[in-house]
Amino acid sequence: MTGGTGGIGAAVMKALRDEGAHPVSVSNTEPTERVPGAEYINGDITDRGAVLGAVSEIKESMGKVDILVNAAGIEEYAPVHLTDEAMFRRVMDVNVTGGAFLMIREVLPLMEQGVIINVASVQSFSATRNAAAYVTSKHALLGLTRSVALDYGPRIRCLAVCPPGTVDTPPLVRKAAVLEVGNSEDRVAEKISEWGGRAHLTGRIGRPEEVGKVIAFLCSDAASFMTGSAVMVDGGASSPTYP
Ligand SMILES: NC(=O)c1ccc[n+]([C@@H]2O[C@H](COP(=O)([O-])OP(=O)(O)OC[C@H]3O[C@@H](n4cnc5c(N)ncnc54)[C@H](O)[C@@H]3O)[C@@H](O)[C@H]2O)c1
Repeated sequence: MTGGTGGIGAAVMKALRDEGAHPVSVSNTEPTERVPGAEYINGDITDRGAVLGAVSEIKESMGKVDILVNAAGIEEYAPVHLTDEAMFRRVMDVNVTGGAFLMIREVLPLMEQGVIINVASVQSFSATRNAAAYVTSKHALLGLTRSVALDYGPRIRCLAVCPPGTVDTPPLVRKAAVLEVGNSEDRVAEKISEWGGRAHLTGRIGRPEEVGKVIAFLCSDAASFMTGSAVMVDGGASSPTYP
């Protein structure tokens, strides 16, 4: 998987390990907490050589891959007129080109049968303000998910998993809160909790493990009739309710 050292990805590593898998993360950061029995390869997924190197390391040690979860992602905040090409390319490069397309292409030959999960977002379906590059990248992941499900089904299932804007992982959500209220821990916590109450039918933001466990389920045989679709794991944030 990609991004197994970060919030949601780390939770996926743990959930897959709990189901008996041998997870391997390809990430450009060190894990804050190592999942026992998991492996960590350091690499930048925007670097083609690093992706090829990581996949060949996995091929050598394991021979085949049953599950690929593309969880690595970055968010940069700006509306279109303040987004320069470098920013746009960086976001597309991590979230789509390197993190999903290239990983999938290189892992496919090692996957006789299996499941591919792309971690997308509720922003695959709706835009939020000042996040043009990110929103574009997450919409693109849906197209890639459907193409893979179509071209490699039924032997390979491919699904997008869509968390809301607010799963409590430090860089993404906290960065957004700090941008709004500054560095005070209390105000950041208050802002995150306000978003949670306002945006989710659950009345709170999500926890990484609540996404990780759903992904582990989707990778299991219990989800054998699911492919080509987007699974919302969003506390009801995208539910068309009219409170
Ligand atoms: N946290 C949320 O609220 C939320 C909501 C919707 C979607 N998502 C999506 O879930 C995924 C995980 O988000 P998170 O909040 O856990 O993020 P995070 O910042 O906690 O972790 C990101 C992970 O991606 C890896 N990564 C980033 N750039 C990389 C690169 N160039 N090469 C290799 N690895 C790289 C990091 O090393 C880290 O392991 C992302 O795709 C994100 O867009 C998150």
